[in-house]
Amino acid sequence: ATILVLNGPNLNLLGSREPEVYGYETLEDINRRLQVQCEAAGHHFLTLQSNAEYELIERIHDARLEGVDFIIINPAAFTHTSIAIRDALLGVNIPYIEVHLSNVHAREPFRHHSYFSDKANGVIVGLGSFGYELALQAALRVIKAD
Ligand code: DQA
Repeated sequence: ATILVLNGPNLNLLGSREPEVYGYETLEDINRRLQVQCEAAGHHFLTLQSNAEYELIERIHDARLEGVDFIIINPAAFTHTSIAIRDALLGVNIPYIEVHLSNVHAREPFRHHSYFSDKANGVIVGLGSFGYELALQAALRVIKAD
């Protein structure tokens, strides 16, 4: 199977961006670990980080053509704004898990609402980069059950 990990705006700055909130690991560190775990389980790993909404949308559209089975997405600030990315995910009908490094519910009120959570297979918040690994384990379990 094929798993696509998507990361939204400013997550390219992980490691140096507000490390007390987002941790000291870089996105490359996180992706390297996810790729190893995904491939060890016999699956394909794809990933994209983008600061542009349209790039994330087009990546999601392409995912259908490529036969991506599952998406793990941290939409970052687009979580709270993007009906367009939500519609893209629903449009391709690929199951997804939403991940946030920080506990968005313990932060500013504008971070409490997500355009993604009500349609997600699951949501993981506040566990730092480990949240991506938990999401991957959950995705692999869903894929195996299919
Ligand atoms: C985030 C939380 C968002 O509110 C914020 O805009 C981000 C990162 C997280 O992973 O904790 O950029 O998605």
